[in-house]
Amino acid sequence: MNINDNYLNLEQSYLFPMIAKRVAEFKKNNPEKEVISLGIGDVTLPLPQVCVKALIKASQEMGQKETFRGYGPEQGYDFLLEAIINGDYKPLGINLSKEEVFVSDGAKCDVGNIQEILSVNNKVVICDPVYPVYLDTNIMAGREISKLICKAENNFVPQIPTEKADIIYLCSPNNPTGSVLTHKHLKEWVAYAKKNNSLIIFDSAYKEYIQDPTLPRSIYEIEGAKEVAIEIRSFSKTAGFTGLRCAYMVVPLELKGQSPKGLVSLNTLWRRRHTTKFNGVSYIVQRAAEAIYTQQGKKEIKEMISYYMQNAKIIKEELGKKFKVYGGENAPYIWLEVPCDSWQFFDELLNKCAVVGTPGSGFGEGGKGYFRLTAFGSRENTLKALERIKKL
Ligand code: MLT
Repeated sequence: MNINDNYLNLEQSYLFPMIAKRVAEFKKNNPEKEVISLGIGDVTLPLPQVCVKALIKASQEMGQKETFRGYGPEQGYDFLLEAIINGDYKPLGINLSKEEVFVSDGAKCDVGNIQEILSVNNKVVICDPVYPVYLDTNIMAGREISKLICKAENNFVPQIPTEKADIIYLCSPNNPTGSVLTHKHLKEWVAYAKKNNSLIIFDSAYKEYIQDPTLPRSIYEIEGAKEVAIEIRSFSKTAGFTGLRCAYMVVPLELKGQSPKGLVSLNTLWRRRHTTKFNGVSYIVQRAAEAIYTQQGKKEIKEMISYYMQNAKIIKEELGKKFKVYGGENAPYIWLEVPCDSWQFFDELLNKCAVVGTPGSGFGEGGKGYFRLTAFGSRENTLKALERIKKL
């Protein structure tokens, strides 16, 4: 048998395990040091109590003959689909039907899996610096990729390319730079996609972190976006579900792709794929996700997000005295311009301060000379890390 030799074109390891390996080695050699991680964007606050209560209640239902549930609908239970549509989209004036929303076990998986219904001959445009999953999964598939370097002079907002692309990944609020696309930017991208028959894969996993009420939360706020865009969202960063796992993807009914037989609905293809290869997110987790949309849930989420955004503000203010700093205003990521190579800065921060961040170059060429910190640490650790960095 032959392997998929596209895998040979990948970096040896995915960015975050590579960092984890270096940190583990440092800890082994320096057992007395307390290492603080502001590296991978993993949440530290526990689950909202409203979700915990929902998990307990749903678990009890699963333990009773009368309320036990086996396989659920692959696409997600109606109660969660309705909560998503009414909670996330209706307030924005966006109408979706339940057939258009697919509940899954993570945005990362959706980003990779969606490609299965798209030809390998599509030309992909990927912003750079970028969440590495967009790039690595397209390398795995063997697609032609062009990079759209996002520069500091444009506040790391991707500029519309002059060339034609079939698939474009956009992430707003952005991981890793913390930049956010405005209505104007999104309108330009939707117009570009219409003109070029392209598909936009819009990752808005961090939409809950947008503080500025004038910024768009969904690409479907733009007229005509349903004809060109898939939207991916996650409960990981919204409600601390990184360990629980739940996300969703919107594949609008209007969205069509080309085939030798004519135009085909992406929604139909994705339903076929999803129902064949996925058995749904567990009932108890979907009940926990539903709880986020209750009044109490909304209150707890708001508190959680403002805790992290307060961290972001503190990091930005403090490190702004020492570095040029981007992001952190509508996103949980702070993007620093550092005076040396990104990995060199990583080593220095680890060795001298026992603080872990993420080297900008790990997110691509455009991240060279930059460094990412997250606001997802505890307040205590964030303050401690800043004290140490100040002395660097
Ligand atoms: C990150 O640190 O970039 C994210 O936590 C990774 C992810 O969400 O998969």
